[in-house]
Amino acid sequence: MDIRIAASDHRAPTTLPDPLGFGRHFTHRMLTRTWSADTGWEPVASIGPRVPIALDPGAQVLHCGQAIFEGTKAYLRADGALGLFRPEANAARFERSARRLALPPLPVEDFVEALAAFADCERDWAPQAPGASLYLRPVLLGIEPTLEVRASARCLFYVVASPCGPYFASGFRPVAVRVEDAHVRAVRGGTGSAKTVGNYAGSLAATEAARSDGYQQVLWLDAIERRWIEEAGAMNVAFVRGGRTIVTPALSGSILEGVTRDSVLRLAPDLGFAVEETRLDIADVMADVRAGAITEAFCMGTAAVVVPIGRIGRDGHDFVVGDGAAGPVATALYDTLTAIQTGRRADPYGWTRVVARRGVAQPTTA
Ligand SMILES: Cc1ncc(COP(=O)(O)O)c(C=O)c1O
Repeated sequence: MDIRIAASDHRAPTTLPDPLGFGRHFTHRMLTRTWSADTGWEPVASIGPRVPIALDPGAQVLHCGQAIFEGTKAYLRADGALGLFRPEANAARFERSARRLALPPLPVEDFVEALAAFADCERDWAPQAPGASLYLRPVLLGIEPTLEVRASARCLFYVVASPCGPYFASGFRPVAVRVEDAHVRAVRGGTGSAKTVGNYAGSLAATEAARSDGYQQVLWLDAIERRWIEEAGAMNVAFVRGGRTIVTPALSGSILEGVTRDSVLRLAPDLGFAVEETRLDIADVMADVRAGAITEAFCMGTAAVVVPIGRIGRDGHDFVVGDGAAGPVATALYDTLTAIQTGRRADPYGWTRVVARRGVAQPTTA
């Protein structure tokens, strides 16, 4: 795959809005590449101005929702270099998500190359503040105009970037979650383990209701028995037993396999914590929270990295986890993971990837 960079006078502003918020501001360019059933992926990906996408009102995605996305971050490191965190893992999940929705899989190496080239172009937008990053959002959607229920014969891959502050305005502070007993996010055999656009649409009503009652996220249960804990909002979830054992729901086919979850599970033993992937019964967990056997709970995801859970609500009652504050396990994981991501700490896992500068000679006119 070649990458063509259109000559552009789009410059990053000398100052970014403060506070930045999460996902509210976008850089001025985007990367695009199209696919057609006849010719496959076009050989060139283009980086040009970020403009509205002209979609036919009959476009497949608007009727069938054939669309997937990813989320990963580029971090400005202390030495001025820009680093990506495990882009190959996002690429592999993007490929799996594409197959699940009958979209054309994008080769892992093309995904990583596209992300690195785009991040390189937009590096001046990467914010410097602690907890800030340049969030990258790759999307793949069916654009063929058709009302038939079938896979689109034309697709668009694009990437946009957003300079972001922490996902929660409160930063690394405990959030409140409410157990969701009415709606489910995903079912085994469905699309929950893929990162499809529709999964998020289906989660909004429960999330908005929880928000208006003072909770930041919902705690999803499995769709069949409504008993087993699955995820917390758009994040994976874990609990800490006795101050040192991290337990998280085992992947069930309806849980999204988070890159952060995987990183936490690999990192935790090196920090002296035991890890366990198992089925977690909501009734047992609530009883253990009340009894103090569960000392911490936390969410894990790219956007917020690790977020402590201070309070869990169910059936109109609230239960405080531990003492309701950020606990030592979540704090150690957050500090270590963010230090690796930003290059402040050595990366023995080979997760970080510095984005090379292409140099000024590279851009060509579109
Ligand atoms: C439903 C869901 N679960 C978990 C995650 C966490 O995944 P990751 O750590 O790869 O961001 C996300 C975010 O992508 C998500 O949307």
